[in-house]
Amino acid sequence: MGKTAKPLMRVLAGERLWPPPMWMMRQAGRYLPEYRATRDRAGSFLALCYNAELAAEVTMQPIRRFGFDAAILFSDILVVPHALGQAVRFEAGEGPKLDPVATSAALDAIHQEIDLGVLQPVLDTVTKVSGMLSPETTFLGFCGAPWTVATYMVAGEGTEDQGPARQLAYNDPGLFGAIIDRLVKASVTYLVAQLKAGVDAVQVFDTWAGILPDAEFDRWAIAPTRAIVEGVRAQVPGARIIGFPRGAGARLARYAAETGVDGVGLDWTADAAYVRREVQGKVAVQGNVDPLVLIAGGEALDRAVDAAIAAYGHGPWIFNLGHGITPNAPIAHVERMIKRVRTSTEPK
Ligand code: CP3
Repeated sequence: MGKTAKPLMRVLAGERLWPPPMWMMRQAGRYLPEYRATRDRAGSFLALCYNAELAAEVTMQPIRRFGFDAAILFSDILVVPHALGQAVRFEAGEGPKLDPVATSAALDAIHQEIDLGVLQPVLDTVTKVSGMLSPETTFLGFCGAPWTVATYMVAGEGTEDQGPARQLAYNDPGLFGAIIDRLVKASVTYLVAQLKAGVDAVQVFDTWAGILPDAEFDRWAIAPTRAIVEGVRAQVPGARIIGFPRGAGARLARYAAETGVDGVGLDWTADAAYVRREVQGKVAVQGNVDPLVLIAGGEALDRAVDAAIAAYGHGPWIFNLGHGITPNAPIAHVERMIKRVRTSTEPK
């Protein structure tokens, strides 16, 4: 069976399938007791990312439990700055902390090229997982989009509105552009390595795309992602790529057309009529149930699933949440959502 027989890969090639293939962003995570146990065994989150055996185990956990159509490599977008030589820590309950790179001296002090040696355990995870998945299950690799990764590199942490990176981009666009260029090159090398090690497709997470003013969106969100798409396909012809520009709103059509991605991830605020009219006819879409309705469960969840089906079920669509599942989401609600998607009648 060739790679194109995988349902999610067929949707990325433009087919519409019923039921739609499904997975969840952050599907390997703290809402699963088996994830928490494995992370504790690894010692820390970053130690888990760099332990191929345990990272492969947590990648497989949601596949075994729920039978999702895609496994996503267990890692983090911040392993890229780490492999560029920036200090990165994850403190329990506090999120990521980095020694900021916000001056030309700090940028000169990190590597020009990503050190794939640092990422070898992640690539070993890819090799292990690709030997464990059934032929129908798509294996997704990923990286952060340069803009989103740069917001953490510059601030040294997540902030409410990623103000430090926005400020640097205005104050010193030359320096900020040099950070972005460094990340484009690193991301191409990293994604090509993931594809060569066995992932079927990759997703580029631009979690902070939505905070960019319209006049800056093309320069910092679209152009770097397009450079990654072109760079990856120059080395892996036909590579399938999903972009997730969270909060892009009415810039989604422009993002889809100009980056060259095969699919666009929708956050939970997307305008369904706009997306159907302007985006879904050109690329596949993925999304977009609000992660918070998964906490509510019951009829509120059923209504949200039905609304997503009514919105996107007529075209090429991968069912997902509109952002990552939260640690307090009950497993029974995930099961209810999956059942409802898979047993819904095909929309006419
Ligand atoms: O989706 C998956 O299951 C694959 C693994 C994955 C993680 N992070 C694991 C993780 C992926 C694809 C990511 C992407 C990521 N990481 C993004 C982009 C997508 C998004 O969710 O917006 C961003 C912005 C990061 C950076 C990051 N990592 C932050 C801000 C945090 C802290 C917030 C939080 O949720 O705790 C992390 C930590 C992180 N990454 C955890 C997991 C499972 C939780 C750490 C833990 O287990 O203690």
